[in-house]
Amino acid sequence: MEVKIRNLKKSFDKKIIWDKLSCNLRSGEIVSILGRSGEGKTTFLRVINGLEDFDSGQILIDDKIYNPQNQEKRQIGMVFQSYNLFANMNVWQNLTLGPKYHKMDIKTMEEKANKLLNLLEISDYKDQKISTLSGGQAQRVAIARACMLDPKILCLDEPTSALDKEAIENLIKIIKILKVQDILVIIVSHDLDFVKKISDRILTIVDGLFKEVEKKNL
Ligand SMILES: Nc1ncnc2c1ncn2[C@@H]1O[C@H](COP(=O)(O)OP(=O)(O)OP(=O)(O)O)[C@@H](O)[C@H]1O
Ligand SMILES: [Mg+2]
Repeated sequence: MEVKIRNLKKSFDKKIIWDKLSCNLRSGEIVSILGRSGEGKTTFLRVINGLEDFDSGQILIDDKIYNPQNQEKRQIGMVFQSYNLFANMNVWQNLTLGPKYHKMDIKTMEEKANKLLNLLEISDYKDQKISTLSGGQAQRVAIARACMLDPKILCLDEPTSALDKEAIENLIKIIKILKVQDILVIIVSHDLDFVKKISDRILTIVDGLFKEVEKKNL
């Protein structure tokens, strides 16, 4: 799968956030986005997830125009900085809510949820409420939830901000597994060590444009 971002523009009221975002991304890549605070990194993730509209430009997936706000089967998953899990529901309920909404067959849903719980080593917590989990555990639930609908693209916003060193190493392992599964992973982060370790490519947003950065120049 190839994703082409072409001259994407977004403004809030009359303030232009970025107006010439272009890049080509493909399956199995881990791409990190850096940039100063307020440069519009989270906004970019929200736009390609269909949580915000955009003013102009195009997103193409395998050369077909893609409207993130109008997707029947969600192809893009998002792990929010604050995870956005339902605190009063347990882990299993958080994982199965979206698939139920999308009317996934029950057996398929249960198989997927169990597979992800094992992969992310959170099976033991599946009946626990989110409010009783640690930050790292909650994050793994958020990743599992985002993967329930088999996204082709997974976006993570500041995934290391609430994690200690050991949890970051675990996160790196998890993301590398997603890469092997041919998912395009897009990460927004300020954590340069993490970005250098994990990324195949690094982009920055400068003056409304994506610019590619070499790891050695960071
Ligand atoms: N819903 C909104 N309404 C109006 N302005 C917004 C909205 N969301 C974001 N902005 C503005 O858009 C700009 C980009 O915000 P965004 O959160 O994307 O930045 P960021 O690059 O992720 O920053 P940080 O590194 O601090 O997380 C900021 O100036 C912000 O104030
Ligand atoms: Mg942000």
